[in-house]
Amino acid sequence: MKISRISLALDTGALILPDAGRIAVFRPRSDEDLSGLPQDRVHVIQGFKPDHDAFVAQGYDTGVAPTGDYSVAVVFVPRAKAEARALIAEAADRVGVDGLVIVDGQKTDGIDSVFKDCRKHAAVSAALSKAHGKLFWFPAGTGFVEWRAHGVNIVAGGFQTAAGVFSADGVDRGSAALAAALPDKLPNRVVDLGAGWGYLSSEILKRDGVKELHLVEAEHAALECARANITDPRAQFHWADGTGFKLPRQPVDMVVTNPPFHMTRAADPNIGRAFINAAAEMLSLPGHLLLVANRHLPYEKTLAEMFRTVDEIAGDASFKVLRATHPLRHARAPR
Ligand SMILES: C[S@@+](CC[C@H](N)C(=O)[O-])C[C@H]1O[C@@H](n2cnc3c(N)ncnc32)[C@H](O)[C@@H]1O
Repeated sequence: MKISRISLALDTGALILPDAGRIAVFRPRSDEDLSGLPQDRVHVIQGFKPDHDAFVAQGYDTGVAPTGDYSVAVVFVPRAKAEARALIAEAADRVGVDGLVIVDGQKTDGIDSVFKDCRKHAAVSAALSKAHGKLFWFPAGTGFVEWRAHGVNIVAGGFQTAAGVFSADGVDRGSAALAAALPDKLPNRVVDLGAGWGYLSSEILKRDGVKELHLVEAEHAALECARANITDPRAQFHWADGTGFKLPRQPVDMVVTNPPFHMTRAADPNIGRAFINAAAEMLSLPGHLLLVANRHLPYEKTLAEMFRTVDEIAGDASFKVLRATHPLRHARAPR
């Protein structure tokens, strides 16, 4: 678990919490240590399913959106600047003008510029700098109105997106490459693993043959956008961790994915590999996986370990679209 800057600030007496009232904790990752805060007052607000579930397992009252009022709000700054600003504005609104807002973040997620920006809007404390990050706090006041999220974000094609979701400004180039490589006819049961706000699913549903499409997405806000973007009755929505996802009625005929490739700033092919594993587990014997990835990401070895055939079917200098067929687990399964 990480060093808790909140615990350090509370232990030294630099940070003092009000004696009463609920404490909203926005967007803590599963490795954040919240033990410095009184657990019976904490409401964790986290829409990313694996992190959400980790706090539920620790016994925290956990939701995907704030409810009611709080006396304190803690914001763990996410990487996307628009989302960070919207969360700070939401935190300030929720605690009211006299409430306390605490902001914590890593340098790699831009906490230095968030600190500078907050100082322009409120009476911000000195920053506690520790473990490649910063913590600071301030009375909420009214200065963050212009940082509020501006309702629904509509991008080219009429799709709804939200601050902080993947490719919030429009269709991702890798996903467009995968959509262009989709055959005209697809099999009956298809899974879009890591479906985001639903672009690939919208393309899948334009092809012949699809009877059921399962959108699997861990980020609650992204899945809510997908629900707004895809109204086709063949679509089913699953707020779930794709790495361990299973449908009640397995197997499926096809998995399509543009897998996530980082959870922090650094690229991490292990998440994509976990998606490939999950796909191999849910596919039927003649089933196949279509995957798009940045050209430098090394997925071929994992694909070759899990599938009998792997081909590059499209691509350019930046992306490759890979098709893998015949998951080998069927060959390994006891008879
Ligand atoms: C590269 S994006 C692709 C999104 C979408 N398919 C598109 O084409 O725009 C990967 C998606 O996987 C989601 N994701 C990340 N980790 C996940 C997990 N463990 N389980 C399910 N989805 C996850 C991300 O929130 C993101 O929406």
